[in-house]
Amino acid sequence: MSDKKANPNVAAEQFGKVCEILDRHGRNPAKLIPILQAVQDAYRYLPREILAFVATSLDLPPARVFGVATFYAHFTLEPKGKHVVRICDGTACHVKGSMTICEALRERLKLAEGMETTPDLLFTVETVSCLGACGLAPVMVIGEKVYGQVTPAKALAAIDAILAEEA
Ligand code: FES
Repeated sequence: MSDKKANPNVAAEQFGKVCEILDRHGRNPAKLIPILQAVQDAYRYLPREILAFVATSLDLPPARVFGVATFYAHFTLEPKGKHVVRICDGTACHVKGSMTICEALRERLKLAEGMETTPDLLFTVETVSCLGACGLAPVMVIGEKVYGQVTPAKALAAIDAILAEEA
């Protein structure tokens, strides 16, 4: 058996985290959604190998687990960056130039068309609908931190500060 196709992001020891999550939820199939939520919090996405492991551990058909994971927009099966940058593109933010901020960030992070996450998994840039802070438009959120009245320069400064911290 070859492990050459194994996702390097999901090294064997990574299964320890999902075991702990399953134990914490009593390996109860009825708790599938909170389990998937905890897995996503721990891994920052739902790795396919981990979903298959969850299905086996809960004695559920894999199609059921993958079905739930793909049904809810909140869940993602693609790796996300360590820093998730959300640019609001609701109406108030859009008219105040949210897309120019998005373009500036994508250019700085060299994100090709259709890509949201940098290859080094440091950043994900995504657009979201109204964040409920329209008075601060345009709004950007990085992790838990909210930035209001953002300009492209302000957004790039925030990214540069993170890059400096990570260097
Ligand atoms: S439209 Fe951006 S916060 Fe409401």
